[in-house]
Amino acid sequence: MEIIKTKDYDEMSKQACVKVIETIEEMHQPVLGLATGSTPEGLYKCLIDAYKRNKVHFDKVTTFNLDEYIGLSPEDKNSYHYYMNENFFKHIDLPADQANVPKGNTGNASQACEDYEQLIREAGHIDLQILGLGVNGHIAFNEPHTPFNSRTQVVDLTESTRDANARFFESMDDVPTQAITMGLESIMESREIILLVSGFKKAAALAELIHGKKTESLPASILKNHPNVTIIADEEALSKA
Ligand code: GLP
Repeated sequence: MEIIKTKDYDEMSKQACVKVIETIEEMHQPVLGLATGSTPEGLYKCLIDAYKRNKVHFDKVTTFNLDEYIGLSPEDKNSYHYYMNENFFKHIDLPADQANVPKGNTGNASQACEDYEQLIREAGHIDLQILGLGVNGHIAFNEPHTPFNSRTQVVDLTESTRDANARFFESMDDVPTQAITMGLESIMESREIILLVSGFKKAAALAELIHGKKTESLPASILKNHPNVTIIADEEALSKA
């Protein structure tokens, strides 16, 4: 795992932005894996800005988001689909049928998981996957003790993750208890992975990832097995490493 230390959040976002644009320029039909949460917001702003300045186009890009809450429709303001529309998709020239987010509100979630894996296979797998890091070391919604060989599936969210994400909801009761997430093995099939980490609250998990051993109690530690991972983290996130 290569580690790039940045001064702050803005520099982390800019470095990731450069990397995403390079990937789009290099590939004929690039496939990007996208994340939600606060961490990638700066990256999306930077990409939108580059698009507006005619530095990048998304018409040949296909995207796959990592996860979605069960029970929320794409129109629900707290769904990850809504987040992606507001923070990224509606500002760029990515055709709507090339932007994929797991379907959290179908009657048949396990079928939705299988369909999602099939779509990723048909697209030829993910060229560059963007990841954030949960305070408990989760990636996507793969919580501690998720088997390393997990595929896209429905998962129960831990209280710590529901707490961490409650800031986006009106009350704790509104925070869903389940989600669809790409599995750890599915994520590992990406050709290249960038893990973005910012702020003191992620410092302990990041230190454990860098110095600890590979263990299912820290889902992100599976990344140690991947040949092409770059961690872009700011000084605060690296303060305990
Ligand atoms: C959430 C998401 C993850 C995200 C992580 C960190 O639960 N499911 O995909 O990377 O937690 O979120 P944030 O960037 O808001 O700290």
